[in-house]
Amino acid sequence: MSLRRFHAARWDEPLIHQIGAPGRRGQHYPQVAGDGLVPPGLARQTPPALPELSEPEVLNHYLRLSQQTMGMIGISLFGTCTMKYNPRAGEQAARRLAGIHPAQPPETMQGLLAAVHGLDLILRSLSGMDRFTFQPAGGADAAWTQAIITRAFHAARGESTTRTRIITSLQSHPCNPATAATAGFEVITLPLGENGYPSLDALKAALGPDTAALMINNPDDMGVYNPEIAEWVRLTKAAGALAFYDHANFNGVMTRIRARDLGFDACMFMLHKTFGVSKGGGGPAVGAYGCTAELAPFLPGPLVAAGDAGYRLEQPPLATAKVREYLGNLHQVFKAYAWARAMGADGLREAGGLSVLMNNYMEKRLLTLRGVSRSHPDQPLPRLEMTRYSLGQLYEETGVSAVDVQNRIADFGIDAFWLSHEPWIVPQPFTPEAGEMWSREEIDEWIDVLAHVIDEAYRDPDHVRAAPHNQAVARLSDRDLNDPANWATTWAAWQRKRRA
Ligand SMILES: Cc1ncc(COP(=O)(O)O)c(C=O)c1O
Repeated sequence: MSLRRFHAARWDEPLIHQIGAPGRRGQHYPQVAGDGLVPPGLARQTPPALPELSEPEVLNHYLRLSQQTMGMIGISLFGTCTMKYNPRAGEQAARRLAGIHPAQPPETMQGLLAAVHGLDLILRSLSGMDRFTFQPAGGADAAWTQAIITRAFHAARGESTTRTRIITSLQSHPCNPATAATAGFEVITLPLGENGYPSLDALKAALGPDTAALMINNPDDMGVYNPEIAEWVRLTKAAGALAFYDHANFNGVMTRIRARDLGFDACMFMLHKTFGVSKGGGGPAVGAYGCTAELAPFLPGPLVAAGDAGYRLEQPPLATAKVREYLGNLHQVFKAYAWARAMGADGLREAGGLSVLMNNYMEKRLLTLRGVSRSHPDQPLPRLEMTRYSLGQLYEETGVSAVDVQNRIADFGIDAFWLSHEPWIVPQPFTPEAGEMWSREEIDEWIDVLAHVIDEAYRDPDHVRAAPHNQAVARLSDRDLNDPANWATTWAAWQRKRRA
């Protein structure tokens, strides 16, 4: 076993506001002709406090900063949120959108609208739903779309004051209860049974004439599938509520399970997880939200529709408020369309199967490591594309936590794994997800690094607890991070804080 060592560059790099000099310029622009273009009431009295630098100074500054991060050059088995390679072909395809303005008339961007409509059709066939919107800028935004459509749907039937509760489960992603609560619903969170998923009896006890919806992900955050899910949906619908499938963890069942076939009214897919698009927060992400024809009139508009005269934009008759400007992050929709077309139905099926195979391969090896166990060991069903593990025994025996291990593996060029969403019901959790894109050698390297770090934890726990050792920045103190007095998200806010 030869481990790849990594060491980030360390630059004593000031903030960009602390370099340069007044009057220094990177680019020269002609003076805009004519005063008074900005109404006096809106014109600022003093120039903005922007950094003033030459172009090479700016370039070097950002190059130095980039050398201090590991970026995506390590093996990244992030987990609970499928992380995939983002093919260059998708980036090239999306570059064609440069220069298109989202407010352009539809007849001048027919190619783009064809891609949006094309992806809508692909997702319809993968889910069985009747219509998709790509407006939500991420998974949480798609859950929010579900919450406001639930509100609008019941209001249209005169039931807004009676259907006030949304049911979810303890290991559904927190965006489900959070968006339900933000939309004004009372949230019922079902606890997990021995098998790792809530019992049917718990669901039956929670359902009633006040239930507005079930919002649930399957598999949950631990990689556990609920084998009774079809019955869950049947009971929910029989109670007059809507059933929403958070399909963020779709990878292992692509082309094998369709949300509609299980009875769901709506579902979401993450283009930035399953569909080969770069992962990120609200900015570059897309939570594709799809629903049945019954809910489609409530989708936030506009939607792309195909007709004899080409593609057009149409506003659903009962549209809820927009969740994002225009049609959403269309660059990402374009990349996902390119990816899905390149994969084809057979490719998606093969990728799903590979991701299950790789996860089970990993599981076999990981469970041989001292101090590692699997959540819910009594659950008889195999995990599909991801497994929740615990380093609880390692912690008890050495005092080394899952976060310590996470920091130490980065010294070997391995991206930190994801632990668990809250609440942590598994002690010292970690949830790597192999996916379909890493080679067996890479997966083995990942496991070898973990094995090495665990071995180190038993031999020299202090060394692991003090990790990372090879990064530009050593471990940050939680106390500083948790105290807003010590940080600010912008330079202007930092200046204001310092003045205060
Ligand atoms: C199951 C599940 N649902 C929803 C989300 C939220 O997605 P996003 O981070 O795109 O808002 C996540 C992300 O971790 C997830 O794993």
